Amino acid sequence: MARSDGRQRYMSALLETCDKHGEFTSLLLAGGWSTCVACGHDAEMAAAAAAQVAWRGQLAARAWDARLGRAAIPERFSDRRLSTYQPTCAEAAQALSVAQRYARSFGAVRQSGMCLIFCGDVGTGKTHLAVGIAHEVLEQGGQAVFTSVIRAVRSVKETFGKGAGRTEAQALRDLVEPDLLILDEVGVQFGSDAEKLILFEIINGRYESRRPTIIISNLALGELEKFLGARAVDRLREGGGKVVIFDWPSYRSRKVA
Ligand SMILES: Nc1ncnc2c1ncn2[C@@H]1O[C@H](COP(=O)(O)OP(=O)(O)O)[C@@H](O)[C@H]1O
Ligand SMILES: [Mg+2]
Ligand SMILES: [Zn+2]
Repeated sequence: MARSDGRQRYMSALLETCDKHGEFTSLLLAGGWSTCVACGHDAEMAAAAAAQVAWRGQLAARAWDARLGRAAIPERFSDRRLSTYQPTCAEAAQALSVAQRYARSFGAVRQSGMCLIFCGDVGTGKTHLAVGIAHEVLEQGGQAVFTSVIRAVRSVKETFGKGAGRTEAQALRDLVEPDLLILDEVGVQFGSDAEKLILFEIINGRYESRRPTIIISNLALGELEKFLGARAVDRLREGGGKVVIFDWPSYRSRKVA
């Protein structure tokens, strides 16, 4: 009796077979014959899983954009990679290899706080290699920040005035917290000793929290040591920190064969 009741309610019912789930009852509904309920469930689960994958992709892209934005790599250097650095001599090949090893073992670098000092002549690719390292650290999911010393010091100084949006401590934290900080144009003359002091606070803050820093300077090593002082340079060289001297002709003035 129940069966005939059912037939009446659904107009008609057929026993069908799903290739995947076996026998099921197909009902003639307003929209036509119903399909396998288990298949419908599978399709829903698959759609939900696909939406979850897409959502994770969106989050990863958002995190990447945030990291890249914060990295502040200058537009002119946005496409510089370690893979696009073409060594013009054995010493340049050596510099590239130091940069590659640093980037590839960044896990250990981040733990030890090992720094690099790139110093020497203009146009030899110091900024290029440092930006190349930054890109690899970003790709690994770490935070790298690129800044000229003058800009870094200004960002701290800007907090001194009344009505500044944030505190000096916050500005310093932005420079101390990143996994890697690249300080470009170290040794460009400052206006005052107070400004030099801010640079030391940045270097020291990173040293104390064991964060790696890459120092770039167009000065020769001796002059850089004079500029930063032996103490700061010792700290930068602690724990296997390397000095790479860039003393070959500028890439821009190279003779193209
Ligand atoms: N070996 C190289 N291979 C490819 N490009 C290079 C190389 N060396 C320098 N460059 C390019 O030359 C320009 C100057 O290099 P840059 O990194 O600014 O030098 P530095 O910081 O030492 O003054 C940049 O555009 C850089 O990408
Ligand atoms: Mg440079
Ligand atoms: Zn089915």
